[in-house]
Amino acid sequence: NRYCIIMAGGIGSRFWPISRRSQPKQFLDILGTGKSFIRHTYERFAKIIPPENFLVATNSIYKPLVLEHLPELKAHQVLCEPVGRNTAPCIAYAAWRLRSVNPDATMIVTPADHLILNEEEFRKVISESAEFTERQHAMMTIGIQPSRPDTGYGYIQIDPVPVDGRPAIRKVKTFTEKPNLEMAKIFIESGEFFWNSGIFIWKVGTIMENLNEFLPELQQLFASAEGKYGTPAEQQAIDDIYPACRSISIDFGVMEKARNVYVRCSDFGWSDIGTWGSLYQHSAKDPEGNVESAPCLFYDTKGCIVKNKEGKLTVIEGLEEYIVVDTDDVLMICPKSNEQNIKKFIDDVKYKI
Ligand code: GDD
Ligand code: MG
Repeated sequence: NRYCIIMAGGIGSRFWPISRRSQPKQFLDILGTGKSFIRHTYERFAKIIPPENFLVATNSIYKPLVLEHLPELKAHQVLCEPVGRNTAPCIAYAAWRLRSVNPDATMIVTPADHLILNEEEFRKVISESAEFTERQHAMMTIGIQPSRPDTGYGYIQIDPVPVDGRPAIRKVKTFTEKPNLEMAKIFIESGEFFWNSGIFIWKVGTIMENLNEFLPELQQLFASAEGKYGTPAEQQAIDDIYPACRSISIDFGVMEKARNVYVRCSDFGWSDIGTWGSLYQHSAKDPEGNVESAPCLFYDTKGCIVKNKEGKLTVIEGLEEYIVVDTDDVLMICPKSNEQNIKKFIDDVKYKI
């Protein structure tokens, strides 16, 4: 009864110019492991979920890429969105499809692009959390011990009392998606908060009830296709419904407001490798603290991350704490401390994304 829903419709803009509209981050092997992020995500879950119980939600244009990276899946397992509307519509669509197939299903919803170091522990956490939601009619998120006041995450305040005598499972007192820096600092100092990993577990009926309560207009749109889910008429109905959906994340749309939310506090070596800076942190460095993807010649250069190409010599002198990315058609040189400006570069060179 357990299903894995991989959300793979983002464009990974903070990894530009490697991540491109034609080939976003989830389809890339940014860590140099020989496998794309989406492949790693699939394999991580495939040890506990059979291939026919996967759904991948993505933009229609990425359907061929999904099937190429995950040849175990059939075409109907790729949920195609005609336009991106963030994660709440994506999860609602998956819930409606799943309910038509198996109303008793447990949904394990995951981003497509995370790094997880201890996969054994990860699977233990997922299985235990799924058991919990199957018994308690609860919504569960996987929480990560925070290490810095990062404003790119959701913050979960935990209840001090363990649930059912299990210290790792706590009731969620508050859920704050992407707080400002001041708030994030207060949260971290209090010691009562975990990061939301973006991995959610719930029964399909539980998420349907919560969507009905907190995003009723969205649910009305999907309800208009009732009877078509899982049939050949589904795609046309989705193509008609989707543009009218409000663009909102599940975190803002549901998790911040819902009441029966629990967190499984976890420690399995997690990073969402969201930016060049986080990739730098997770990469092996030379004695000067530089990271290179192909051999570089460095002089008086420290703390840089260089994504360069095999067969083209890169020589750098006198650079500190920079990101250098050299692709066929774009060369980007940007201080690590300004990496949030990459979104602005993309806006300015739209035709090149
Ligand atoms: N199908 C589909 N359609 N997938 C999407 C869409 C969409 O329109 N938009 C985003 N996604 C996918 C992304 O590809 C990614 O795998 C996942 O949904 C999460 O979206 P992000 O855009 O990466 O979210 P975020 O990083 O800003 O925030 C979320 O993740 C954090 C942890 O990494 C939130 O859940 C935060 O609370 C959380 O801390
Ligand atoms: Mg993310």
